[in-house]
Amino acid sequence: MSTAYDTCFARLAEEAEVDILLVGDSAANVLFGMESTQELSSEIMALLVRAVSKGAPNTHIVADMPYTSVQNAKTALRDALFFLKQGAHSVKVEGTPKPILETLIQNGIPVMGHLGLLPQTATSLKQVGVKEEEALLEQAFYLESIGVFSVVLEHIDYSMAKKVTESLSVPTIGIGAGSDVSGQVLVCYDLLGMNKGPLPPFVKEFGQVQDSIQKGFRQYAQAVREKKFP
Ligand code: KIV
Repeated sequence: MSTAYDTCFARLAEEAEVDILLVGDSAANVLFGMESTQELSSEIMALLVRAVSKGAPNTHIVADMPYTSVQNAKTALRDALFFLKQGAHSVKVEGTPKPILETLIQNGIPVMGHLGLLPQTATSLKQVGVKEEEALLEQAFYLESIGVFSVVLEHIDYSMAKKVTESLSVPTIGIGAGSDVSGQVLVCYDLLGMNKGPLPPFVKEFGQVQDSIQKGFRQYAQAVREKKFP
């Protein structure tokens, strides 16, 4: 799984056979330079979902439920239904907000859970360590019992991620959770090498797209200044 926020990247990811595209609320930081994912509105999320679904019509698309959408069950249901209408196949919810999760699932909306570091409400970006193991397992079992189809595990101790993965019947998707999980997710700008950094310690860059984009801009600007283009 990778994040995607627009039609072009979604098309490239689909052609590259990425299984799942997450329209993450990380768009707040990566696309819009906001300080917090709490700032991303449901209107913006809906637009991004529509753009991604146009680029990747044959890939499972997960819409991240924005912070403002999960403040009550009524808003969560309204927004989740709207994201599905824009082309999402499921939604992702951070943490274990019972009334929200239960309302979505009871209304037939496929939900992906998200445990560990929860960027919408986190006060620190520290790894969630083994001290939290009991609480994390309890949350994971709760999510499984209400019927989520998968759980993201973000920035947690690797042995804990292994334990959760072995204990659940639904797949786990790790980010900073080691390799003993069912799948992985990264923010597309991070994995492609488009960010100046500092990057989270668990990110690996699989491309250096930043350099080639800059080269393209530089060559274009230079060609225009030197009257070589058009
Ligand atoms: O918003 C996001 O990109 C995410 C992933 C990091 C899991 O939630």
